[in-house]
Amino acid sequence: MEDQSFIPLNYERLEESTMINNSISFYKEMDKRRSVREFSDDHVPQEIIENVIMTASSAPSGAHKQPWSFCAISNTELKHRIRAAAEEEEYKSYNGRMSEEWLTDLEPFATNHIKPFIDDAPWIIVIFKKPYDLVKGEKRKNYYVNESVGIAVGFLLSAIHNAGLVALTHTPSPMNFLEELLKRPKNEKSFLLIPVGYPAKKIEVPLLKRKTKDKVLEIYN
Ligand SMILES: Cc1cc2nc3c(=O)[nH]c(=O)nc-3n(C[C@H](O)[C@H](O)[C@H](O)COP(=O)(O)O)c2cc1C
Repeated sequence: MEDQSFIPLNYERLEESTMINNSISFYKEMDKRRSVREFSDDHVPQEIIENVIMTASSAPSGAHKQPWSFCAISNTELKHRIRAAAEEEEYKSYNGRMSEEWLTDLEPFATNHIKPFIDDAPWIIVIFKKPYDLVKGEKRKNYYVNESVGIAVGFLLSAIHNAGLVALTHTPSPMNFLEELLKRPKNEKSFLLIPVGYPAKKIEVPLLKRKTKDKVLEIYN
């Protein structure tokens, strides 16, 4: 077994009243987050993108394998090639691959196969999951990969919101074209595509109601 070092936990216990206030203000802030589908092409500094990605990469993961890669793309030509490939898949999805029920569920969002936000957003973050690592050509298994990468994306979306930017969680399906376009190693599988930037001026978002506490929370005292 390898030597394992331990360090003191960096933790400061807060007053209960402070914790209550913090939990309320964080909830209120996060509750303002919305998915945005129309972006301005205003510049976003690379430093912010790097910081939000490193926040994502601080997430917990099964056996601390951090089974993810984040590709941040600002290159205009590459974004356009991603858009073209995404629209090709999305056209097939909207015209035959999605069930009637799925199409009906999507109606409130007025989405279709056209994805201008992939060109417009200054950054596209593509997240890849790694079902296994390749160490000197050998496969090393990763654990709870979907859970781990999902949590990291939660951190990412929170960090993007906290930085004052907006994003869309996008799943052009199937997404394997991203592995080819971005020339990823064979142990990386596309997970999500997230345009990041500023919203276009005066846009509207769907009127959504979030489930109330009694619908999502059961307390067992
Ligand atoms: C895993 C996942 C996949 C999604 N895929 C798409 C997508 O491909 N296209 C899209 O327009 N929205 C997509 N969304 C965004 C959802 O429609 C959106 O989160 C939901 O309607 C709630 O709206 P809100 O994010 O503004 O709260 C996706 C969200 C999640 C979590």
